[in-house]
Amino acid sequence: MSRVHIQGLNITFGGHEVIRHLDLDIHAGEFLVLLGPSGCGKSTLLHSIAGLNPVSGGRIDIGGRDMTHAEPSARGVGMVFQSYALYPHMSVRDNLAFPLKMAGAPKAEIAARVARAAGMLQLEPLLDRRPAQLSGGQRQRVAIGRAVVREAGVLLLDEPLSNLDAKLRAELRRELKLLHARLGNTMVYVTHDQVEAMTLATRIVVMHQGEIQQIGTPAEVYEQPRNLRVASFVGSPTINRLAGRVQDGRFHCGGIGLPHAAADGTALTLGVRPEHVLIGDGQPFEGRIQLVEPLGNQHLLWIEAGGTLLCAVLPGQPQLALHDGVRFGFDAARQLWFDEAGDRLAHP
Ligand SMILES: Nc1ncnc2c1ncn2[C@@H]1O[C@H](COP(=O)(O)OP(=O)(O)OP(=O)(O)O)[C@@H](O)[C@H]1O
Ligand SMILES: [Mg+2]
Repeated sequence: MSRVHIQGLNITFGGHEVIRHLDLDIHAGEFLVLLGPSGCGKSTLLHSIAGLNPVSGGRIDIGGRDMTHAEPSARGVGMVFQSYALYPHMSVRDNLAFPLKMAGAPKAEIAARVARAAGMLQLEPLLDRRPAQLSGGQRQRVAIGRAVVREAGVLLLDEPLSNLDAKLRAELRRELKLLHARLGNTMVYVTHDQVEAMTLATRIVVMHQGEIQQIGTPAEVYEQPRNLRVASFVGSPTINRLAGRVQDGRFHCGGIGLPHAAADGTALTLGVRPEHVLIGDGQPFEGRIQLVEPLGNQHLLWIEAGGTLLCAVLPGQPQLALHDGVRFGFDAARQLWFDEAGDRLAHP
């Protein structure tokens, strides 16, 4: 396992700055997830660690050595691409062995490493098949295996599960987590799926337009988002956002009013996660059910209140029906306040 240390990284494509003066310290042995919307620069950052992008400025150290301009093969990293990129004319065994053959490894060692990777990824029964004779999930396992055989200190994965259906994705996600526990190497994983990020990561890096918004454990990013952007990107259904102003010691948004100590006229946004919306007769606000979505073990209530639409998540089966009136409030301890620029206020 290796530490990856990135300092002041700049990456420019055709005069357009895609990564802007980025600092990132990836701890040895951690499962770091790069999370962010499409086009924010996740793949570009990952590819720069792999040595697949020319770097315009800054420095990348891998395992304590300056690798900023080193050849990809000299970096001690394995890479898994979203498109499986398997050799169609080769068997699974030969696909797995290929990177080791290219590196000039002795035959016996190649066989031993291929056997080890195949065992870990349940590929043994498939070793003599060709990629066309495999399912999508099996192909992706081979692609992961081909990076694993290198037994590199750092494994880089770019949306490796996005071509799979939901059930297979969840299954392979668990396998990846177990694989990381077994290998103990450093993993850097790119996704725009916040569920993958939350379930896999030891730390999540939330990116936006080539810059890091926040780095933290899944719990930190979820419970203490640095700004509205992070709060909105992490969590499903999305956090409720109520934009309003303070007047006479109260924050007002539509028909919702809450005590707040900020000066008159201060613009604020209140963020409340759907599980922190409370429903019951004793609650202070009144709304109307606009939509009910049963999910089996829980259900979502969409509530219209004074021109604002709020989502509440509740356990079990729905007790309220469409157009019913409903009383609701917010868990006071879980309210998140953001200023006009979208930054979270440490002391609301
Ligand atoms: N080789 C390239 N030449 C020019 N522009 C590029 C190149 N590669 C990426 N870009 C641009 O850099 C930005 C970041 O792209 P990148 O592929 O890193 O995004 P991403 O976060 O991985 O998005 P996605 O989730 O869609 O894969 C985009 O605006 C993209 O158009
Ligand atoms: Mg990408």
